[in-house]
Amino acid sequence: KPVVLSGCQPSGQLTLGNYLGAIKQWVQMQQTHECLYMIVDLHAITVRQNPQDLHQACLDGLALYLACGVNPDESAIFMQSHVPEHAQLGWVLNCYTQMGELNRMTQFKDKAQKNQSNVNVGLYAYPVLQAADILLYQANEVPVGQDQKQHLELTRDIATRFNNIYGDVFTLPEPCIPKNGARVMSLQDPDKKMSKSDTNPNNVIGLLEDTKKLTKKIKRAVTDSDEEANIFFDIEKKAGVSNLLSLLSATGGESIEALVPQYEDKMYGHLKKDVAEAVVALINPIQEEYSRIRSDQAYLSDVMHKGSAKAREKASDTLSRVYKALGFITSV
Ligand code: TYM
Repeated sequence: KPVVLSGCQPSGQLTLGNYLGAIKQWVQMQQTHECLYMIVDLHAITVRQNPQDLHQACLDGLALYLACGVNPDESAIFMQSHVPEHAQLGWVLNCYTQMGELNRMTQFKDKAQKNQSNVNVGLYAYPVLQAADILLYQANEVPVGQDQKQHLELTRDIATRFNNIYGDVFTLPEPCIPKNGARVMSLQDPDKKMSKSDTNPNNVIGLLEDTKKLTKKIKRAVTDSDEEANIFFDIEKKAGVSNLLSLLSATGGESIEALVPQYEDKMYGHLKKDVAEAVVALINPIQEEYSRIRSDQAYLSDVMHKGSAKAREKASDTLSRVYKALGFITSV
């Protein structure tokens, strides 16, 4: 079976963007692939975190993966820091990545711009650790949202460079980006991506948010002041309306082409109401399942424990191949 690896950062509550861009695909791939899904706690500390909040966010994230349908009998579900090989391979790959390559990463440039008082080396090397995450498992496919495409390209470049020097050590991974929902936009500022670290809560739909609140937010989403208020898909001219159409398509399953004619003589309010209903229908069962699982500490521990044991088998295999290739003394 082809191998799949992906993860989300535990830096705040997971959003509808994380679900539609990534987690939804993870669930679907479980039947056909060998899957590994992690909470990337090592990546999360590239920005300052409150320890208690980070601790809770890791457990929340794990419970949410399960509530969304990630199944611990099929997939390895684990904390990145429980598999030390991630940091170990990350170091090795740092030595095979050029600063010029990292300077071009748009996510780094964005984050550095937003938080100028803490542009740390970890933030800079973030994509290298991500490459290590992926290459450690010889992953064939990496289900992610659109914003991760550049990191995946870098991962392939690093792997290719390493393979050219040392022979076929790493499998080259392919990104898996969904047709719909790959880039869920902010509700109030539809030119930018919905992000869990957004400081304005009105921009974001959290998966664990009260559904009444979330309905209000969607109804207040920015559209435009186009007098005719026509509903059609055009990301440039109609960013807000296009985002709502994408959301409806990704949550409800109908294509955008099929949806647009249904709104021919309707108002923005109709569209928002339908989006809110579709989102609530999707999220309600996830929340119910979540509240059942989240309180079961023993179960969560068991899942992580089994998950990291399974992950380590594969990870340590790759790391020793890498160490051998480098010429390190691997047995004494
Ligand atoms: P993170 O936590 O920022 O995002 C987790 C996943 O959610 C997707 N995503 C979105 N998709 C659609 N619309 C949005 N608004 C949206 N926001 C986020 C992201 O594309 C991602 O798939 N660097 C990764 C974490 C990571 C990783 C890995 C992923 C670390 N190592 C190895 C894959 C493989 C990230 O940005 O997480």
